Amino acid sequence: MNTHMKAVVIDEQGEADVMRYRSIEMPALEPGQVRIAMRACSLNYHDIFTRRGMPGVRTPLPMILGCDCAGVIAEMAPDVKGWALGERVLADPIARFTRQEDPNPTIPIKFIGDTRWGGYAEYCVVWDRQLIRIPESVSIELAACLPVAYGSAYRMVMRHGQITAGDKVLVLGASGGVGNCAVQLAKSVGCFVVGACGSAARCQQLKELFGVDQTINTAEQDIVKATRGLTGGSLLQGGGFDVVVNSQGGEFWAIGIRCVRAGGTMVTNGALAGFDPPTDIRYIFQGELTIQGSNGWRHQDIENLVDLVADDKLRPFIGATYPLHQAIEAHKALEARAHFGKIVITGDAPIQR
Ligand SMILES: NC(=O)c1ccc[n+]([C@@H]2O[C@H](COP(=O)([O-])OP(=O)(O)OC[C@H]3O[C@@H](n4cnc5c(N)ncnc54)[C@H](OP(=O)(O)O)[C@@H]3O)[C@@H](O)[C@H]2O)c1
Repeated sequence: MNTHMKAVVIDEQGEADVMRYRSIEMPALEPGQVRIAMRACSLNYHDIFTRRGMPGVRTPLPMILGCDCAGVIAEMAPDVKGWALGERVLADPIARFTRQEDPNPTIPIKFIGDTRWGGYAEYCVVWDRQLIRIPESVSIELAACLPVAYGSAYRMVMRHGQITAGDKVLVLGASGGVGNCAVQLAKSVGCFVVGACGSAARCQQLKELFGVDQTINTAEQDIVKATRGLTGGSLLQGGGFDVVVNSQGGEFWAIGIRCVRAGGTMVTNGALAGFDPPTDIRYIFQGELTIQGSNGWRHQDIENLVDLVADDKLRPFIGATYPLHQAIEAHKALEARAHFGKIVITGDAPIQR
């Protein structure tokens, strides 16, 4: 039996050159665990944060990146019941335990590609409680797009944004994973949806793929001015969006606030452009805005997303696919903003090792 596998490993955090495609010993299965032979793993901006390191977050090293792993069951611990070798599965990236059940309380968040080895690898070990069956009508690649970006967008838009038909919704970073999902969900509810992203070609894709009503090309247009044009005025003159979806942070934080209507909401789940931006709080109190945080997803959210894809009500757009041995190039493409939608890496490791 093969005891090693190929994976993209970081032994230290830093720039892209810390990633190595190399052989690494596979961990033995613990009770309740299964080994998935990776068939598809989608990339997320989170992978870049894990590789670079984030203040206040400790990443155990060596680490294998990749939070969104789907594949087939290659091996199961003897106590795992109700699953079969070869079954097509998607992993919820986070294993959720009660305090009493927790097999290792020193690592309170068990998150593949973050605190546990992830999906840029031939095989990935998860607990059976993380598994979600992939229906026949859903490809493994599409399923792999769902957990982190789509799960998080689902929670942002459906739970915290509380959008309803007719709402005006602005999605910043609409060309990425979270953004693509947010615009699709808002359109499916019947909102007037505006997607902002970084080029005319991407704006065109947002219209063609998802039917967004209007776009803002952030490379050429001023987002606040464009908002006034699209919504009939500034925040304090009756204009603005009911909901602004903001994963960007950085310079887009203050801009986003100025695009919300009086009494409206800006939902944030991330800060890829900076986590401590300056702001002008006068807009928040004068406009009585709600700034709503959103973090992660629930297991049920991912199951709901799989059902939406199976029912043809949602379709992740895969902008590029790379084989596992080119995962480092895929990761660099994500960081270079050279993509639209999701990037997926694929694997074909055998079930019998
Ligand atoms: N809290 C949570 O649970 C959670 C879960 C998932 C994601 N997130 C966060 O959500 C954000 C988006 O994640 P994602 O995986 O969807 O990323 P992604 O696929 O890379 O998409 C991000 C989009 O933002 C734009 N962008 C990239 N770098 C930028 C920069 N430095 N400044 C401004 N815009 C930039 C790009 O669009 P253009 O080039 O077209 O502008 C890109 O398409 C990240 O901050 C991530 O950490 C949080």
